Amino acid sequence: MRIGKILVQPDDLAHRVQELGREISAEYEGRELFLIGVLKGAVFFLSDLMREIDVPCQVDFMAVASYGSSTDSSGVVRILKDLDAPIDGRDVLIVEDIVDSGLTLNYLLKTLKARNPATLEVCALLTKPERRKVDLPIRWTGFEIPNRFAIGYGLDHAERYRNLPYVAALEVSDAGPA
Ligand code: IMP
Ligand code: MG
Repeated sequence: MRIGKILVQPDDLAHRVQELGREISAEYEGRELFLIGVLKGAVFFLSDLMREIDVPCQVDFMAVASYGSSTDSSGVVRILKDLDAPIDGRDVLIVEDIVDSGLTLNYLLKTLKARNPATLEVCALLTKPERRKVDLPIRWTGFEIPNRFAIGYGLDHAERYRNLPYVAALEVSDAGPA
């Protein structure tokens, strides 16, 4: 395994995060936003995005584990860390690193909706439309990427590569040690 083709360059990430921050700020003008980051991958995107948002906002995190193989989720999700506070009546924005099959987000949306937030939207940095198994209302998306396993800017493979300043494809080579 090694770092393959770069899918999104650092400059493009920064520029798009700025645009998303502006759009989100305009949408929630006069309101207070409650951001929910999905650990661990979204932390990097979330911390950059939050600094581009100029309405008052709070942040909390959830950690979920999806049963399945290392590259395929099953849709059966377990909450490892829940929110510290209730979200009823709040304007909630889920911030995700990547939506692949959509099964994890589908579960999160159902779970959080049941807690009666005033509004519930999603902002995902990346999406792989070819892999989608369920139709989801993703309000803001950073980039559509091809059907490749992505690493960097928070995204990991076996907990590595999160610190890359760009998003790249993971190259799976059988050609011996890289
Ligand atoms: P989904 O349930 O199939 O949409 O995938 C959910 C989670 O799997 C994402 O939130 C990521 O944490 C992880 N994931 C999916 N695709 C990738 C990828 O290409 N690289 C790294 N993690 C991924
Ligand atoms: Mg994730």
